[in-house]
Amino acid sequence: MNIISFEKLDSTNTFAKQNLQNLADRTVVSADFQTNGYGRFERLWIDLGTENIYMTFVLKPSDCLEAEHANLTQYLSVILCQQLEKLGLEPHIKWPNDVLLGGKKVCGILAETVMKNGKLRGIVLGIGVNLNASENNLNLIDRPATSVNLELGHAVDKQVFIKMLVDSFFKNYDDFLKIGFKYIKADYEKRATLRGKGKSKKEKEGLNTVKIFVFNKIISGKFNGFDDDGTLLLQTAEGKIEKINMGEII
Ligand code: BTN
Repeated sequence: MNIISFEKLDSTNTFAKQNLQNLADRTVVSADFQTNGYGRFERLWIDLGTENIYMTFVLKPSDCLEAEHANLTQYLSVILCQQLEKLGLEPHIKWPNDVLLGGKKVCGILAETVMKNGKLRGIVLGIGVNLNASENNLNLIDRPATSVNLELGHAVDKQVFIKMLVDSFFKNYDDFLKIGFKYIKADYEKRATLRGKGKSKKEKEGLNTVKIFVFNKIISGKFNGFDDDGTLLLQTAEGKIEKINMGEII
């Protein structure tokens, strides 16, 4: 396991992108403190203190971008859920890759690809986990958020948690790369819900209407499950099935 730890970085993803050439495949960059962490849709990822997790997996799976690389964020969300379950928690995944506890976000995942001359140089897969946050700091976040320690009622050892997460990630990484989303589909579906809480009756019966913010428009329809490639299937009012591969459920 190759984890490089820093006291302070602007962002572990930024550092990984800027130093990609010098970082070996499967290196993990971790920081105690981020001054400029960011998430999807160019949102700020607020630093909640040094006992929380800010880290980035540096991955160089091949020279070409393959379809399954787009599912790495979903793979990591499943790995994190399994780890939280070992602690006795009941996490859910809000498509595509937010991990929530009791409907509140506990982790964010962001993958960025670096290409040069049409070739894939690497993927930086960043993850932020609210591991040991205070309620005061969580209030700085403008959306419902929680932390592992608050859900458990006690602090969690950060180094042990990181080591377990990195070990579990790489344990099945090669198999995942060979097979893609299908490899985790059952594990993903089991935990995926539209609201990030347990599945509602409507949701179980497939009657749920979903609204998804894609680029700058809102698409709505009936949730029709996930395809074998991890995309969300939406049945529109006209009865057409649309495959949604990015966006945010609102
Ligand atoms: C999101 O939910 O929008 C994704 C958040 C990803 C945050 C992590 S923290 C470690 C890594 N460095 C960053 O600047 N972002 C990711």
